[in-house]
Amino acid sequence: MGYSNYSVALVACLVLLGGAQAVTLEVSDGNSTCIKAELSASFSITYNTSSGMSTAQLALPNSTTVDAGSSSCGTDVAAAELVAVFGLGHALGLSFSTNGSTYALAKLSLQYNLSDASAFPQANSSDVVTVISTSDLGIWARVNTTYRCVTPDPIQVGATNVTLSDMRLEAYMPGGDLSPTESVCTADQAVTTVLPTSVAPTTSPTPAPTPTGTPERGNYSININGTMCLLAQMGLQLNVSYSSKSQKKMVQEVVNLHPNQTSASGHCETSSATLVLTQDQNTNLTFVFTLNSTSNKYHLSWLSLVAAWPDMTDPVLVSNDSLDYLRSTLGRSYMCNSEQTLFVAEGFALNTFRLQVQPFGVTTNQFATAEECQMDQDQMLIPIVVGAALAGLVLIVLIAYLIGRKRSHAGYQTI
Ligand SMILES: *[C@@H]1O[C@H](CO)[C@@H](O)[C@H](O)[C@H]1NC(C)=O
Ligand SMILES: *[C@@H]1O[C@H](CO)[C@@H](O)[C@H](O)[C@H]1NC(C)=O
Ligand SMILES: *[C@@H]1O[C@H](CO)[C@@H](O)[C@H](O)[C@H]1NC(C)=O
Ligand SMILES: *[C@@H]1O[C@H](CO)[C@@H](O)[C@H](O)[C@H]1NC(C)=O
Ligand SMILES: *[C@@H]1O[C@H](CO)[C@@H](O)[C@H](O)[C@H]1NC(C)=O
Ligand SMILES: *[C@@H]1O[C@H](CO)[C@@H](O)[C@H](O)[C@H]1NC(C)=O
Ligand SMILES: *[C@@H]1O[C@H](CO)[C@@H](O)[C@H](O)[C@H]1NC(C)=O
Ligand SMILES: *[C@@H]1O[C@H](CO)[C@@H](O)[C@H](O)[C@H]1NC(C)=O
Ligand SMILES: *[C@@H]1O[C@H](CO)[C@@H](O)[C@H](O)[C@H]1NC(C)=O
Ligand SMILES: *[C@@H]1O[C@H](CO)[C@@H](O)[C@H](O)[C@H]1NC(C)=O
Ligand SMILES: *[C@@H]1O[C@H](CO)[C@@H](O)[C@H](O)[C@H]1NC(C)=O
Repeated sequence: MGYSNYSVALVACLVLLGGAQAVTLEVSDGNSTCIKAELSASFSITYNTSSGMSTAQLALPNSTTVDAGSSSCGTDVAAAELVAVFGLGHALGLSFSTNGSTYALAKLSLQYNLSDASAFPQANSSDVVTVISTSDLGIWARVNTTYRCVTPDPIQVGATNVTLSDMRLEAYMPGGDLSPTESVCTADQAVTTVLPTSVAPTTSPTPAPTPTGTPERGNYSININGTMCLLAQMGLQLNVSYSSKSQKKMVQEVVNLHPNQTSASGHCETSSATLVLTQDQNTNLTFVFTLNSTSNKYHLSWLSLVAAWPDMTDPVLVSNDSLDYLRSTLGRSYMCNSEQTLFVAEGFALNTFRLQVQPFGVTTNQFATAEECQMDQDQMLIPIVVGAALAGLVLIVLIAYLIGRKRSHAGYQTI
């Protein structure tokens, strides 16, 4: 009791340094904020229609608000809880627990309203469904520190997949704002160890990736328990702008990913597949592919980059969860030998070379038949057009020759 007067604040803001939209959610007791979360969240929800299963993609919109009635700062017996509501009766609930020295996200719940026809077209039910996480979410931090995880973190909850990213949150806060000390998730950690603020380590510092011509093609497939679930072969080039320490201004740099210095990790769910590439412990590139089970089409929906190169004054964190690239059909792979530029957000684009991916439906550890990008098809047209033109030319010469021969024969006859 005593927490009856919650004042609830919501600020929608754009993450600095560009990237996906993040919302800021706060739960407070009188004057003091006890839970604050800045995050982007997207949801991939499988539901029944009269003609089979379908998957809806939702994201926390700017208009998300905190439900004061069901949120609380927690008591000795009750958990601290943040309930964010959005759209027509949808809600994301984050429930925290603490033991005095650490706090953890104990439970994540998602409520969705199948009556919302714009989000769930042709749903054959009008129920409000609530799903609750059952496993350990691995999201925890020391008390008086902020939990940070910029890298997308997909969590399977019932028939849905919740992906949190660009996340900074703290529960049981001592002050009104996020604590300056951060507890960084493992996915982000690779790049934190070389943050410029840290004292020079005894090991030699990793040089910034060097620019070259066309990047080497890497094999970045994901293997779960000996079975391939995501196949990817591609050459990758980052086009990043950042604030340079040595030049004291914004610079634009084009760098290649080196396959022999890049490790791949990730996982595969029914309707989403994640590939995380880490180079030199200072560059993290994450791909999230989404499958629409109605249309049986998949695409690259999310790309994020976390980079902390020695010359950067601040690490670069860029992410966009509403992309539509590399679109293909379930049971096929996607191929693009030509160079392709995937614009992600202001300050970051990814160039791909000799790319072939298959994030879903991998059955034989080998790529299925490829659907090729338009650029490759256009390039294939060139030799065909040239060939046809040459054939035409040969034909014209031949006809001219035959006509000429006939003429000269006729000439002999008149003599
Ligand atoms: C909020 O802070 C103001 C000024 O510090 C104080 O007067 C007021 O009583 C506080 N309200 C609550 C509910 O603590
Ligand atoms: C779809 O309907 C079937 C049969 O009623 C049910 O078993 C299944 O759980 C439903 N799936 C979802 C995602 O609601
Ligand atoms: C909804 O569709 C699923 C299969 O598509 C079916 O099994 C289920 O019985 C249907 N539910 C209702 C309420 O019509
Ligand atoms: C899935 O595909 C269907 C059919 O093309 C489309 O109507 C629907 O909007 C798509 N769903 C999502 C979440 O993109
Ligand atoms: C679910 O959506 C329907 C129609 O959009 C709306 O009438 C209903 O109030 C919503 N349910 C909740 C719990 O918000
Ligand atoms: C609190 O939980 C953490 C993580 O489970 C554990 O490492 C720590 O020892 C616990 N502290 C106390 C005081 O129980
Ligand atoms: C957290 O900070 C508050 C206020 O600064 C302090 O009272 C408390 O002891 C701190 N707790 C821990 C576990 O450091
Ligand atoms: C992989 O294997 C481990 C142990 O053999 C098992 O616990 C786990 O569930 C398996 N994972 C998958 C995705 O099959
Ligand atoms: C990198 O991005 C800049 C600005 O978007 C663009 O002008 C430049 O051509 C790009 N370079 C490459 C190699 O893609
Ligand atoms: C990685 O490959 C590049 C060029 O292919 C080569 O110059 C470099 O020495 C290799 N590095 C390692 C650690 O093998
Ligand atoms: C994210 O990508 C979409 C589609 O390419 C684009 O329209 C949008 O502007 C991008 N968002 C940001 C923040 O750049």
